[in-house]
Amino acid sequence: LESKLQLVHRHIRPFPDFPKKGILFRDICPILKDPAALTAVIDLFEEHVRKNHQQVDLIVGIDARGFLFGPLLAQRLGVGFVLVRKKGKLPGTTVSVAYDLEYGKAEAEIQEDAVAPGQKILLIDDLLATGGTLHAACELMKKQQAEILGCLVVIELKELNGIDQLKSHAVFSLVQY
Ligand code: PRP
Ligand code: HPA
Repeated sequence: LESKLQLVHRHIRPFPDFPKKGILFRDICPILKDPAALTAVIDLFEEHVRKNHQQVDLIVGIDARGFLFGPLLAQRLGVGFVLVRKKGKLPGTTVSVAYDLEYGKAEAEIQEDAVAPGQKILLIDDLLATGGTLHAACELMKKQQAEILGCLVVIELKELNGIDQLKSHAVFSLVQY
């Protein structure tokens, strides 16, 4: 019988030289297209969170692919979901942080009132590469005085050493390359 992890693994496709030469892009679209694979991802995240974290107040998802998994997990846990967006997308007063990507530059932003001081949060994204994105999101959470419980990703690209940037924070990944 195929395990949930094997099912997830089987629904990740590699694309060489996308979006730039030298990048081996891991595509998670097949996971979204297969209900059983998507359920397996959320099951595995839920099991991890229930086992390792007593109380979670909010799931914080990263633009754009963190939005695919974050709300599903938040619903399972019965907690709210908050969006970390690319700059210029959110209305009202916002807080932002600039960061470097594996293949470019970007700025992450949240609404100032999205997270209250002391709230226990888990960050979620599809993939950890250099760690620049999750690090920036952690900086935003620190500015809001949130308590960061850890980071959840479907895929970790080990050779880019992203966890080094996130030193003090626990990173849980389902699949590693
Ligand atoms: C990708 C990916 C992560 C981030 C990982 O998103 O979904 O968010 O890069 O890279 P890092 O660990 O080196 O920061 P991208 O910025 O390409 O944006 P998208 O989700 O809008 O496509
Ligand atoms: N796949 C998908 N998203 C990414 C990657 C990748 O290899 N690297 C940085 N973001």
